[in-house]
Amino acid sequence: MDQIYREKSLEYWDGIHKEYDRANIKTDDWLDKFDDIITGCRKPILDLGCGSGNDTLYLINKGKKVISCDQSPSAILNIAKNFPEVYDAKCFNMLDGLPFEDEAFEVVIADLCLHYFKETDTRNILADIRRILIPGGHLILRVNSVNDVLHGAGQGKEIEHHVFEMEGKTIKRFFNEEDIRYFFKDFEIEYLNEEIMTRYKLEKRLFRVCVRKK
Ligand SMILES: C[S@@+](CC[C@H](N)C(=O)[O-])C[C@H]1O[C@@H](n2cnc3c(N)ncnc32)[C@H](O)[C@@H]1O
Repeated sequence: MDQIYREKSLEYWDGIHKEYDRANIKTDDWLDKFDDIITGCRKPILDLGCGSGNDTLYLINKGKKVISCDQSPSAILNIAKNFPEVYDAKCFNMLDGLPFEDEAFEVVIADLCLHYFKETDTRNILADIRRILIPGGHLILRVNSVNDVLHGAGQGKEIEHHVFEMEGKTIKRFFNEEDIRYFFKDFEIEYLNEEIMTRYKLEKRLFRVCVRKK
């Protein structure tokens, strides 16, 4: 990825992830749909791009072992402070590869963190997620929809198909169904649905997706 986008993304997110208390974290119910997968998972679950830990908290509440990861040092410090139950909390940039053994995970969660990359980076990160999943393992994710107009879809300079440069020089990808089928073609798509999330002040249009490593 262009160095400038990478630096701006870190600066932006590290600025967002200021100190907060666990009591301020809201979970939402998007993972309920995959309860059988989550409940049946025996290994720790990887929460990629965990941010403030909404999904980490959901998984902890389910009694799961969670490994929470983010590029933002502040996010990871907050996770360690607020969620002493986490199995591990790691700070790394997905663009540098995922620091895990092959087939280390049965389930990877990537909530709203896989839409910040140009095509080559997106493909490399997805290949790496595939590598660390066991055969039959699941990647459960949400990504921006091309219809997410309240959060920048179709606005700003389009630097690649469906990838826009935002104010402050961060970038965002907006997916349509065809894009998802293209990027996830090495997985089996088990669930794919465009929906509205209301966790943010402005409603957000996104795709909820569950794919399985063939
Ligand atoms: C919209 S937030 C989502 C946070 C959380 N998953 C949730 O849904 O509440 C996106 C997160 O992805 C992280 N992220 C973005 N690009 C990343 C990268 N290249 N490597 C690791 N984390 C990244 C950001 O730091 C940020 O915390």
